[in-house]
Amino acid sequence: MEDLVALCKRRGFIFQSNEIYGGIQGLYDYGPLGVELKNNLKNAWWKSTVYNRDDVEGLDTSILTHPDVLKYSGHQDTFTDPLVDCKSCGLRFREDQIPEQCIGEELTDPREFNLMFETSVGPIVDDSSVAYLRPETAQQIYINFKNVIDSTSRSLPFGIAQIGKSFRNEITPRNFIFRVREFEQMELEFFVTPGEDEEWHKRWVDERVSWWIDQGIPRDKLELLTVTGDDLAHYSKSTVDIMYQFPHGSEELEGIANRTDFDLGSHTKNQKELNINANVMENNDSNTRLAIQNENNEWIVPYVIEPSAGVDRGVLAIINEAYTIEELPDNKKRTVLKLKKHLSPIKAAVIPLKRNNEDLVKLAHDIKTSLQKFQIGRVVVENTGNIGKSYRKHDEIGTPLCMTIDFDSLEKNTLTVRDRDSMEQKSIKIDDVKQFFMNYFSDESE
Ligand code: GAP
Repeated sequence: MEDLVALCKRRGFIFQSNEIYGGIQGLYDYGPLGVELKNNLKNAWWKSTVYNRDDVEGLDTSILTHPDVLKYSGHQDTFTDPLVDCKSCGLRFREDQIPEQCIGEELTDPREFNLMFETSVGPIVDDSSVAYLRPETAQQIYINFKNVIDSTSRSLPFGIAQIGKSFRNEITPRNFIFRVREFEQMELEFFVTPGEDEEWHKRWVDERVSWWIDQGIPRDKLELLTVTGDDLAHYSKSTVDIMYQFPHGSEELEGIANRTDFDLGSHTKNQKELNINANVMENNDSNTRLAIQNENNEWIVPYVIEPSAGVDRGVLAIINEAYTIEELPDNKKRTVLKLKKHLSPIKAAVIPLKRNNEDLVKLAHDIKTSLQKFQIGRVVVENTGNIGKSYRKHDEIGTPLCMTIDFDSLEKNTLTVRDRDSMEQKSIKIDDVKQFFMNYFSDESE
């Protein structure tokens, strides 16, 4: 983990947040390369979850959440962790995460600590201005259920996907970006006919495992854990966690829950109780507001299968898996980030042989511009004049292709392409470079 943290800082993937003022625990910022990697991961999820399917719509909802949403979702009462104090040193921590120095010491009785961040909306601060930063993106999907079916005419089964920030005031954030207080989730709420839920749950577990494999996580580093007893969330009939062997141990990367009709049912019932939007309810046959008509025109509250993945945990797992130190034949070592190419922050570096040589640098920029037009990802010109150093840097940050421009490029219209993993170099015609680049990036499944 220390090596990963150091690499992330040195190369500009991830920084401690608010660092110059001493930092805030459990918050991290993504640097110039981190933002690319994270966006690539989110795009890969969006493509496979929304674009490549015919049964999922997307959504992007507000983070600030009405307190009633979280009251009726159960979060106000149950989204808590047991907090204890060490009577000898005064440290505060989660009852199930006792720090070494407090093992064997006398602890206070555990009290339930709610993990939600509360804030206030508008200039007057009183009970009616309270709002929460959402602790999961899912609730906003549920309360938009009717908006989505009315505007898209969907029928079951279908899903609503969202990627966005969630906030939890974790008692003990730890392990770099594994457990933080502000993080991103990629969540799908997949609505199905009750009775078909268990079959869909299995299908989604398989789908999600195979997606992580496509992101470069080997199957043997993943484990499926059926969550039982007290660990099961208040809304879940059954949950399967995809566990990954992080540097600090095997822990949850994604959870796939069968949330039944808990959330839609709860919001529906309470809309009626609160007499909100009564006219809408009447159109929908009184108490079935967050409901959908089945093929027999009956209004039903569907069940929900929810694959919910952490973006930050995904980034950590992917960097950890890609991080490789290779022995070279000359007894030297090289660090190489063997990222899947669709995830690489930089797709190609174009390197003029001589720094600031006008013709070489101009040609390099022309090639960069022509490749950038494909919108496959970022292409950079590396105007350092040091080819070896540029290769080492781009190996370390996972750039799959380096393209060197030398004097032959000017005379013979060729450039040298170097492959990150094999380190093989070959000469190609500059006229063919666009086609080469396109072919190279189009042959990988996402
Ligand atoms: N909507 C369901 C839900 O939020 P969860 O198991 O609490 O379920 C889903 O969270 C995923 O979100 C986790 O598998 C994890 O990847 C990520 N996650 C949860 N809490 C996190 C935290 N404090 N820091 C980073 N990621 C977190």
